[in-house]
Amino acid sequence: MDILVLLLFLIPIYIANSAPVILGGGKALDLGTNFLDGRRILGNGKTIRGFIGGVLAGTVFGGFVALAYQLPFFTGPFEQFIAAFIVSLGTMTGDSLGSFLKRRLNIESGKPFWPDTILFLIVALLFAFPFVNSALYQPFNVIFFLMLTIVMHPLTNALANKFGLKKVPW
Ligand code: CTP
Ligand code: MG
Repeated sequence: MDILVLLLFLIPIYIANSAPVILGGGKALDLGTNFLDGRRILGNGKTIRGFIGGVLAGTVFGGFVALAYQLPFFTGPFEQFIAAFIVSLGTMTGDSLGSFLKRRLNIESGKPFWPDTILFLIVALLFAFPFVNSALYQPFNVIFFLMLTIVMHPLTNALANKFGLKKVPW
């Protein structure tokens, strides 16, 4: 499988995951409510604007990719665009799921948690499953996605921190 194709598939996922740092703010996604354990459901790090902004940013970028380049996992540009929306939604759901788990484990918002690195990708891939050709999930591709993300996630976070976009370097 062409590496370019794999990278183009990842773009909406990475964009969706990074956009909330810039687009986020305002009302918390959990509206400030607590879970049964008395701690916040998600915490103040997950905002409605960040969630919607992430989904929109990933979808828009995926839409441009669909216009420019036909990926082999999809039957056509429209399916590819819909898949960009689905993986962006999966990315933001995975991001929120990570925060939900962190709060249950009593890890404060913004503190590091190793699943943060890949959970968004895993949930995005699971969401995509009904919409793509199963060739996407061959072991080489999945290992490539995981390895690249494990390398890129800390790197982009450190850069976002250096440029003042993110409070912490992780
Ligand atoms: N963000 C947001 N809305 C989201 C996700 C992220 O507004 N749905 C913004 C917040 O400003 C957040 C920043 O992006 O602080 C970094 O995101 P992330 O690292 O995912 O959140 P944390 O602050 O680390 O919170 P948590 O511990 O819950 O992951
Ligand atoms: Mg964080």
